[in-house]
Amino acid sequence: MRRALRPAAVRPGLAALLLAAWLPVAGAADTALAANNCSPSGDLRGDPERGAALHLKHCADCHGADGRANVIVMHMDQGPADQSDATYMRTLTDQYLYVATCKGGLAVGKNGVMPAWGDVLSDQAIRDLIAHIRTFSGT
Ligand code: HEC
Repeated sequence: MRRALRPAAVRPGLAALLLAAWLPVAGAADTALAANNCSPSGDLRGDPERGAALHLKHCADCHGADGRANVIVMHMDQGPADQSDATYMRTLTDQYLYVATCKGGLAVGKNGVMPAWGDVLSDQAIRDLIAHIRTFSGT
């Protein structure tokens, strides 16, 4: 019995170590969102230019640099919608875009391939991304 318990006791320490090693790479240790629980308020549109740089780095691989999702990604049965489609984008609120980005696809009833960014990107970074994503459709 005792022996069976041991790996479980070791694992949290290892996870913390891996996390500590990973966070500085993401450059986000000081800005992780866990604290605000992905519940934004106020004007959710930040700086679109800063958002553009973040988008190229974190999002364009799956969404395409212009939001049209004209990219091929493995294991993406349900690819992202075309974010340059103004008719479609008008149906999505900034609040929704924020929560989808912060908590990931599953949290908004979409595909789990869409990662949760709340532990990687700051609140401001997500606002900057929303401002940038809106430029694809002019909405
Ligand atoms: C690994 C691929 C991948 C990456 C990287 C990714 N996404 Fe997504 N994203 C998706 C997929 C797939 C969907 C659509 C899921 C669906 O429609 O079921 C999605 C959906 C979304 C949605 C919801 C849009 C809608 O039509 O409902 C938003 C907002 C979004 N992504 C923002 C972002 C942002 C911002 C980033 C970068 C910080 C990002 N995504 C990075 C794959 C990705």
